Amino acid sequence: MAQPAGNVMERIVALCKRRGFIFQSSEIYGGINGFWDYGPLGVELKRNLKDTWWNDMVRNPPLGPDGREFQMVGLDCTIIMHPQVWKCSGHLDLFSDKMVDCRKCKGRFRADQIDSIPCPNKPSKMVGQHHDCDLTEPRDFNLMFETNIGAVIDEENKAFLRPETAQGIFVNFKNVCDSTRIKIPFGIAQVGKSFRNEITPRNFTFRSREFEQMEIEFFCHPSESNKWYEYWRDLRMRWYTEIGLRSDRLRLREHGKEELSHYSCGTSDIEYAFPFLAAGDFGELEGVAHRGDFDLRSHMEGKLVAKDGKLVVDVGPDGKPKWKGSGKDLTYFDDERKERFVPHVIEPSAGADRAALAVICEAYTVDESRPSPELMKFHPRLAPIKAAVFPLVNKDGLPEIAEPLYREIRKRWPAQYDAKASIGKRYARMDEAGTPFCFTIDGQTKEDGTVTVRDRDTGHQDRIDKTRCVEFLAEKLGR
Ligand code: GAP
Repeated sequence: MAQPAGNVMERIVALCKRRGFIFQSSEIYGGINGFWDYGPLGVELKRNLKDTWWNDMVRNPPLGPDGREFQMVGLDCTIIMHPQVWKCSGHLDLFSDKMVDCRKCKGRFRADQIDSIPCPNKPSKMVGQHHDCDLTEPRDFNLMFETNIGAVIDEENKAFLRPETAQGIFVNFKNVCDSTRIKIPFGIAQVGKSFRNEITPRNFTFRSREFEQMEIEFFCHPSESNKWYEYWRDLRMRWYTEIGLRSDRLRLREHGKEELSHYSCGTSDIEYAFPFLAAGDFGELEGVAHRGDFDLRSHMEGKLVAKDGKLVVDVGPDGKPKWKGSGKDLTYFDDERKERFVPHVIEPSAGADRAALAVICEAYTVDESRPSPELMKFHPRLAPIKAAVFPLVNKDGLPEIAEPLYREIRKRWPAQYDAKASIGKRYARMDEAGTPFCFTIDGQTKEDGTVTVRDRDTGHQDRIDKTRCVEFLAEKLGR
């Protein structure tokens, strides 16, 4: 059997479309750059990923660094928030990329990427390399999408689509403290859509304009913040290996001092060697940042800037705060320490789409010994379909045994029933969807009540009693 055509990434993108993992948004109208839709298999995969994250981080986190329990709660905040949020968070002033425009082709490109972006004009060369390319000087381009609230379109009612979910958590810090009996150290988690008007979206879903984040803001006493930073950095790294990413494709990269934000005492990126990158290159899956008290203080006092090694309120030429904070008290009183302070924040900030893309790239396998060589070796926890049930032939009383078994399995896990085509083709379809187990009902089932169970990764088949299929799956799927 010949190797499938195209390079690895092209084959992955083709499989994603062919099998309904990921489609280009608005494809029948030619698509829209930087926007992607998840198909029937993709939506299950991404949901499993987000549920796994929520379960492992929010509902059932491991013990803390001292072997003690700590609390995690969730939020679901709006995408459009009060515009003051983005002024105080610094996004309005600082959330921008340097870009250049080409007066000739009217293209807009990230200034730091022009050497690697093809110019839209033919023959193919990189941006700026044609004799008539006419690039402007680099200038700042804010990445936030703007909209207007209400009927009138003017500066007064301008609003923004959130570029991160984190700010919804900070501005609800007091609400969460007041409405629960939560005690520091604790974390607040949120999963949701974020929007960035990326200048050059590319590499499939890796850099999109609309994407989902899975973010935690973990609040702790300043004296314990380094301990918690290390804890979250290591825990998050471990999580990716637990969902099946191979450790030689994953790496943890500590930012150097020069890379750190002015308020940060430490940041690490968790990175993955995506197949679209050059050998030895890695792309960011998640950032784990020590944010100090920057965010809560900015929302109390007004947008902060670093001056002489300290965070101070940013003032305009008139000496007044550039952006006023909420003026609300976002300090925390610690009953045990008998102390009031502004908590420090550790922020593990992950992208659901990037994690899904890494999981898809990792799962993609070519086994040329199989009649249909492409398969997706998803971790069973993430697989969109957990099991398939096939009657070997669609007659002779076999569907009458297979259908009830399928309905039994479907009560607990996403499952599929398929009675059409040759058994080899049915296995191949399930291999491409990444279904870990297939049960086949054949002539012998009528005699002794056993069915075959086939393992996706090895192709190996065993016979088990049909009454044991649910128990078998529960064991294998760990639930
Ligand atoms: N609150 C901090 C924050 O938003 P970030 O590093 O800008 O930090 C966090 O984003 C994560 O969100 C990234 O590690 C990445 O997984 C995901 N992400 C950011 N921009 C993205 C984009 N344009 N497309 C897809 N995912 C993106």
